[in-house]
Amino acid sequence: VKKLIVDVDCGVDDAQAIMIALAAPDVKVLGITCVHGNTTVENVCKNALRVLKACQRLEIPVFCGASKPILGKTLSAGHFHGQDGLGDSPDPDAPGLEMVQKEGAVAAMIRIANEHPGEVSLVATAPLTNLALAARIDPTFPQKIKGLYIMGGNTDSRGNTTVCAEFNFAADPEAAYIVLNEFLCPTHLACWEFTCHSKLPWEFCDGWLAQDTEKARFMKRIFQHSIKASQSERAQREMVAGMGFISCDSYAMAAAIDDSFVLESDQVPVSVELTGTHTRGMMIVDTLQMLKKEHKACIMKKVDMEKFKAMLMASLK
Ligand code: BDR
Ligand code: CA
Repeated sequence: VKKLIVDVDCGVDDAQAIMIALAAPDVKVLGITCVHGNTTVENVCKNALRVLKACQRLEIPVFCGASKPILGKTLSAGHFHGQDGLGDSPDPDAPGLEMVQKEGAVAAMIRIANEHPGEVSLVATAPLTNLALAARIDPTFPQKIKGLYIMGGNTDSRGNTTVCAEFNFAADPEAAYIVLNEFLCPTHLACWEFTCHSKLPWEFCDGWLAQDTEKARFMKRIFQHSIKASQSERAQREMVAGMGFISCDSYAMAAAIDDSFVLESDQVPVSVELTGTHTRGMMIVDTLQMLKKEHKACIMKKVDMEKFKAMLMASLK
């Protein structure tokens, strides 16, 4: 059984990633830890609970984490995910914040890693603030993590949030720096350009949402806002190439739950730019190994798209 902690800023693609994990055989989600990002951390907690409710899995604990980055401006992505992070289609019967655990997200991550040393993988589909804080509070935390699956960063100088930076890294560059430099476990990155080149055709999406289930109806509702946003001119510019649906966070999740999902990857040392006027938050791909780092991350290049489609289909069954 694969044991996971899922760290989210529960927007629409985070919801899709969570639902993939919940439907996967032999995967146990030990907790969902929430962090600022697409929307406020309070909304993120509510959204995670709504996803669990839609999947009838409210027994999975939801923990509230950092409400701001370590330094710098707090970003949000309401233009894409809706102001509430889940498409601005509220559910009057949504579980309330009293369902969130009393224990904080960072403490919970450290505790869970101590309970299962070397067995828990982290799937991080959000700004990396919680992970970095966990490493600061308990410097032995990174050593207890089995693997890290991150949606974030970019491999050329093209961002989606600033000129040169991808959203999750732009939203907390210091945290991304700490994580990429201090977690020495196998680290798998689904970076922005890769997700753009691995789009799903809209026809797939139609069939995916047309399934006659409660989960599909839930997804259809929360997804409308980002479908429109994905087809806007702004998104077409941001999305590098071609048309289609990108569920960015789902690639990191798919890699975490199925070891044969990634068909090709580059093994390269990576870091994050912290000081550039236009490049703050941009991922540094150290192909020439000038940073003298031993640890290499696996940057996804090619994945099994048929498996991806099957996981997405199963997630709404
Ligand atoms: C990332 O930013 C967020 O808006 C998405 O949920 C994803 O994690 C893509 O850059
Ligand atoms: Ca996300």
